[in-house]
Formats: sequence, C-alpha cells, structure tokens
Amino acid sequence: MSGETAIGIHDLSIATTRYVLTHATLAAQIGSDVAKYERGIGQVSMSVAAPDEDIVTMAAAAAEPIVARHGADRIRTVVFATETAVDQAKAAGIHVHSLLGLPSATRVVELKQACYSGTAALQFGISLVHRDPAEQVLVIASDVSKYDLGSPGEATQGAAAVAMLVSADPALVRIEDPSGIFTADIMDFWRPNYRTTALVDGRESISAYLQAVEGTWKDYTERGGHDLDEFRAFCYHQPFTKMANKAHRHLLNYCGHEVDEAAVNRAIGHTTTYNAVIGNSYTASMYVALASLLDNADDLTDQAIGFLSYGSGAVAEFFAGTVVPGYRALLRSRSHREAISRRQDIDYARYREIHEHSFPVDGGDYPVPRETTGPFRLAGLSGHKRIYEPR
Ligand code: CAA
Repeated sequence: MSGETAIGIHDLSIATTRYVLTHATLAAQIGSDVAKYERGIGQVSMSVAAPDEDIVTMAAAAAEPIVARHGADRIRTVVFATETAVDQAKAAGIHVHSLLGLPSATRVVELKQACYSGTAALQFGISLVHRDPAEQVLVIASDVSKYDLGSPGEATQGAAAVAMLVSADPALVRIEDPSGIFTADIMDFWRPNYRTTALVDGRESISAYLQAVEGTWKDYTERGGHDLDEFRAFCYHQPFTKMANKAHRHLLNYCGHEVDEAAVNRAIGHTTTYNAVIGNSYTASMYVALASLLDNADDLTDQAIGFLSYGSGAVAEFFAGTVVPGYRALLRSRSHREAISRRQDIDYARYREIHEHSFPVDGGDYPVPRETTGPFRLAGLSGHKRIYEPR
C-alpha cells in the first residue's frame, strides 16, 4: 500500500462511441479470413467515433456518472491521459472540467506517453492523495486509435474512455507499492505531429511489449513485490486481446512456470471481454480490462490483481492492486454493457467516410451534424476553436 493510507480506485466508469464496425465487415471488404481477426488477434469489432465524438466527449461521458455519484467537492485535480490529443497546448481535460461544471479551484493537466500515460496519471493521482488524503483526483484516459486504411494496424483500431476517481480508502481497488518500471528508446509505434494516423512496426512492437514485460517484472520482484502465484488475475494493456495472451505466456515462461492454456485463461479470461468488441483504446485499454474483469468475474474480494501497462516508445509499469470488500455493489456493469451494446453497426462505406473526415484548417465555421447518442457532443470548429456542448 502507499504508506499508511490505503489509496486507489474509488469508482470506475467507461464510455465508448456511437458506432461499431465488425471485423466480419472489414474482412469481407479486404478479402481476408475473419478468423485472422477473431482468433488470430482476438478482435470481433471496433468502436468508431462519430464526427461529433472525440476524446473529450467520451471522457466527459465516462466521468459524468462519477461526479453525479460523489460530487465534485473533493476533486481538486483532473489528470487527462491521451495519445490522441485535440490540441497541442490546451489540456483536453479543461473541456471536460467545463462540461461537467467542476469547481474553478481545480488543477487540470494532460499527460502523454503513448498507451502508458493512463498509468502515469493514476500514479500522479495517488501521490496527490497521499499528500492530502481529503482530496480526490479525477483520472481520465481517453483515446481514438487510428491507423491508415488498408494497413495491418487497421484491424486494431478502437475508441473508449475510462474515468477513475482516485481516493483514500477506495471502494474498488487499493493500489499497492512497489511498481516495477521500464523504459527503452524503441521506435515501435509513434505519431509525428503532422499525422492523424499512427505509424507502427507491428512485429517490433510485439517484441518491445514482451521485452517490457520482462523488464517491469524484474524490477517489480527486485523491489519485493508479490510472487506470481499470489495474483488472481492480470490486466494487461490490450492493443488487441491476443496480446494479453502472448504477454501472460511470456511472463509465465520468464518465471519458469509451466505455460498451460487453462492457467492463461484463468489469469486473463474476463479481462478481454470488453476490449474484444471495443478495440484498442490506447491509454484506456488496461483500465477497460479492469472494468471487464470486475464486471464479469466471480467475487474477487481481497484478491490481488496484476497490472501491466505498456506504452510504445517505450515505457511500462507493473503494479498490483487488491480488490476491496463490498466492491460489487458499486460496479457500473449494466451501464458498461449498455454503452457497448447500444452502438450502431455501420457498413464499410460509412466507416471509410468517417475515417477520412477531417476539418478544414482555414479558421472558418464548421458545424458538425448531430449523431452521437452520448451526453456530450462536439458541435463544431469555429475560429480554430473546438466547440463542445451537452447533447
Ligand atoms: N486463422 C487464425 N489465425 C490467423 C489466421 C487465420 N486465418 N491468419 C493469421 N492468423 C494469426 C497469425 O498466425 C498471427 O498470430 P501469431 O501472432 O500468434 O502468430 C495473427 O493472426 C496475426 O497475423 P499476422 O501477424 O499475419 O497479422 P498482421 O501482420 O496483419 O498484423 C499486427 C498483426 C502486427 C498485430 C498488426 O495488427 C499491427 O500492426 N497492429 C498495431 C500494432 C500493435 O497493436 N502492436 C501491439 C504491441 S504495441 C502496443 O501494445 C502499443 C499500442 O497500443 C499500439
């Protein structure tokens, strides 16, 4: 635990998009075998953001029920983690702060390090609560994963946001010390400022991820962390759900354990349910895995969960959390399942149109048609400013 005070995730809420594209549709379009996606990478469908949705609207949709349940009186910090920032200067969290009517006595900041920064945000939040246990920190991870049409990465797109309230005496998961951390300068996935789609060396990225599994675990054990056998389940960053399988097999092997499929399924099974239909949500992905585990597994009270957060480039962190008694009464399982099931299926032509959509850059007025069914929308771009509104 962090010092004397138990600190961790007090509430957790996820949001995703208006639309969904199935891998069956994608496979039919590009003449590929759908089994390559459904079995090969473990993905069935991907969330697609409508033109009036983005990281801000998803983030606000995820955070709104948290603020409704707990109020905003104790929230003095909002940390927004994303790889798909909407501005080079202003933190996207300020739009969320405004949409949710949070107090002006709040600090808001955005963090970036590919898919890892959600965990940096969580650790930042824990440190602030450690300094003053009366405060709460709203941590948000929100991303729209986008690769070039026709590229191997296209099948691993997706979009989602996770909002977490970090607090002393948390109701869901206590986050513990130590963390095992790892950094190596690797160009496995990156996105230059002039591109809207990510660049990736697919094979290199998988081996970099596995190298990070070893690096973080080595540091974690050297710092006196739990033994592998003490964990009930593992939430891995899931760029595609098969990656969690590859990572856990690698960890078992690295630790000299027998690698059998039943043990792997027991460790990661329920963590992949949501990501298999949402796709990669970069910073949010590992926390979507946590939501999936808590919502779908049998009672996990007092069980240790291992977290492996990986961000290309590459930075990674392994840490443990323990599930708090009574957590099940506070889960948002129904609204999570509804957010996923109410997405509207789109055909390839519509997906392609959305994929190619971008705003002109001349500073004119560009309203966006109403499409989202979420509580907030991007109303348009005017004078180079993004305009958000409740729907
Ligand atoms: N039936 C069943 N399985 C099949 C199949 C079929 N008909 N055809 C292929 N497969 C299997 C392959 O054997 C392979 O499995 P293994 O890796 O276990 O061998 C799997 O399906 C994928 O096949 P390919 O390797 O041929 O697929 P690909 O070259 O088209 O691309 C990819 C796969 C490299 C993951 C690509 O989707 C990609 O570049 N994705 C983006 C990068 C990424 O997600 N990297 C992950 C680590 S980086 C990270 O985690 C950060 C992040 O979020 C980006």
